[in-house]
Amino acid sequence: MTSTISTNTGGMTPPARRAHILMCPPDYYGIEYEINPWMKRTRQADRQTALRQWQALKALLEKCGAEISLLDPVPGLPDLVFTANAALIYKNRAISANFRYAQRQRETPHDARWLADHGFVVESVPEGLNFEGAGDALFCGDTLFAGYRIRSDAAGMQAIGERLGCRVIPLELVNPYYYHLDTCFCPLKAGGAVWHPQAFDEYAMKAVREHVAELIEVDRAEAQRFACNAVVVDRHVITNTGCPKLHAELLQRGFEPHETTLDEFVKAGGSAKCLTLRLDGEEAAGWRNS
Ligand code: ARG
Repeated sequence: MTSTISTNTGGMTPPARRAHILMCPPDYYGIEYEINPWMKRTRQADRQTALRQWQALKALLEKCGAEISLLDPVPGLPDLVFTANAALIYKNRAISANFRYAQRQRETPHDARWLADHGFVVESVPEGLNFEGAGDALFCGDTLFAGYRIRSDAAGMQAIGERLGCRVIPLELVNPYYYHLDTCFCPLKAGGAVWHPQAFDEYAMKAVREHVAELIEVDRAEAQRFACNAVVVDRHVITNTGCPKLHAELLQRGFEPHETTLDEFVKAGGSAKCLTLRLDGEEAAGWRNS
């Protein structure tokens, strides 16, 4: 492992395969219920603006080299746009979400059908355990970092780790504004990540520091702009606007930061990463070249 964060562009490395990402158009997006502190029914999203912001994110991801597949939007499922929560993808396996809140549980059959139709073996988590997919379970190298307490259950994360045969680092989330791991932690490569320490309990902070050699800390103001909710495509890192300190840090480390306004989605407690699900599991270094 190298001591600095840089992407793997060594001479012997085969060209990285094209990133493949699942998104869902925001045709039926809105703030129809309140299941996290960002959501206020009185602070409605503007659907036209949301659509423009979503299209700009999609275009930017394509410009960065990603291939985008689309899930059909469904009336009455306003949060279906947040495809990160659909499942955890590992090779050809999709571990389907079991959402904590009834309002989002109706998304699962749609997500599962799309994934099955596109060649994934869809599995579920043990009965009675909540699990919110790649919103709470993120590979950094071969290790699965697993946020729990607010949405997903720790026991489910351990069961998933055993099933996939990978090490799980459970991280307790304590700040209701950072209710999914991907709102406060973003792997950049094996051994490197962006994070907002104040979202974690003491023990989790220690665990992150122990297991991730190169950490970029995001301050409160930029964490509130969802700086940690970044999409990483090779050397490109895409975030909401208003994260200049993180972008400067990333530039210094050889990454190419990009920003695009996602304020309509922040109203639901989401941003760039939440609106995407990486389908080729490139985050899982263990199978990058397999
Ligand atoms: N309103 C959605 C919820 O509270 C937002 C989900 C954001 N997704 C994410 N991966 N952080 O469930």
